[in-house]
Amino acid sequence: MLELDQRNRYFDQLYNTPDLIYLGQNTNHFPLHPSVKQAMQDCIESEEFHAYAPPAGFEELRELILADIDLREASVLVTDGAIEGLYHACRTLCRPGDQFVTTDPGWKWPIAFAKASGAEIVEIPIYGPKYNYRLQPEQLADAMSERTRIVYLVDPNNPMGICYTADEIKAFAQIAKDAGAYLIHDCTYWHFADDHTMAARFYPERTLTTYSFSKWLGLAGLRIGAIIGDGPIIESLAQAPPNNLGSNVLSQRAALAGLKIKDEWFPEVQRRQRANQARINEAVLKIPGLAMPVYPSNGNFVLVDVAQASIAPEALCDVFRQEGIMIRQAGYHSQRFRDRFVKISTTVPEAWVERLCTLFPQAVENARGLNRDIDLY
Ligand SMILES: Cc1ncc(COP(=O)(O)O)c(C=O)c1O
Repeated sequence: MLELDQRNRYFDQLYNTPDLIYLGQNTNHFPLHPSVKQAMQDCIESEEFHAYAPPAGFEELRELILADIDLREASVLVTDGAIEGLYHACRTLCRPGDQFVTTDPGWKWPIAFAKASGAEIVEIPIYGPKYNYRLQPEQLADAMSERTRIVYLVDPNNPMGICYTADEIKAFAQIAKDAGAYLIHDCTYWHFADDHTMAARFYPERTLTTYSFSKWLGLAGLRIGAIIGDGPIIESLAQAPPNNLGSNVLSQRAALAGLKIKDEWFPEVQRRQRANQARINEAVLKIPGLAMPVYPSNGNFVLVDVAQASIAPEALCDVFRQEGIMIRQAGYHSQRFRDRFVKISTTVPEAWVERLCTLFPQAVENARGLNRDIDLY
């Protein structure tokens, strides 16, 4: 069977599992604000989707995205999820022989995109107390060369939940600038951070910032996001985009409505997901060998270190999967640290977290001695 078919069947089965408890993809499962739902219903009712949307997105949506991230001078392409912008930037900017520098752990897909364009991947290890679970500016400076084309920084970091300070971001931007490299600042999770700084403030010329509606607003399955940068870079990306026919109209209507109610709606989402983090932390601390090295997390997820419990992350994920709960194994984020942790999402109903916490001690016992050779993706 094709690897693709195997992987697809795996996700198809998960998606079609009745009442699956989604704690593995940092998706947001809180109910939508009524006006977001209404915007989608209105879109369906009017059948406006017979027409293509404007190529870079509805003007009002573009404006509101820039206002939300407070980069009003920048330009923006609305994309089919943040991932489309990442694909476009990595494939377009990387040339054979270039270097693509990122952290380990980090997010794997942009690595695949850069590789597909012939780039050499440089992964800087940042997991563990030795690194304080964050990229140090000196590490980045050491990793740079005249071949460095892109620095890809996930901030807040998925899967660790750390968020960089303004001084760190300023230093990273300066290092990228000194090397003449592009800085892709993947800010998919910034809404959940206590204090987040946009790198584009310090290096607007060659910083690309990603924006997602999957996490804070809960639109993962609708595929809507954006890529933001200085006018000339966005203009050049707009010359040959993967989708020049405008993003999904229904999704754009939902995103627009979401930005309009964000201030009233989102604080409660954040309160609930932080309370879920606290509940998981309490449960984890009672289990010998488990730890939550980054708490609170600045993302809508927490990382649980399992290295001292002598269990394979894959085994623990598989035990939970048999209970109808999806959590994520470290191998999705890192080869080097694949034995170290699992990741659990927190923008979910409290009852889901309660179920996870109730099962946790026994799940760890059941995972002991199980083989790690389980196909997970
Ligand atoms: C770091 C990071 N960037 C981008 C994405 C994709 O975002 P979107 O759903 O907007 O395509 C994800 C999804 O998990 C992610 O973790």
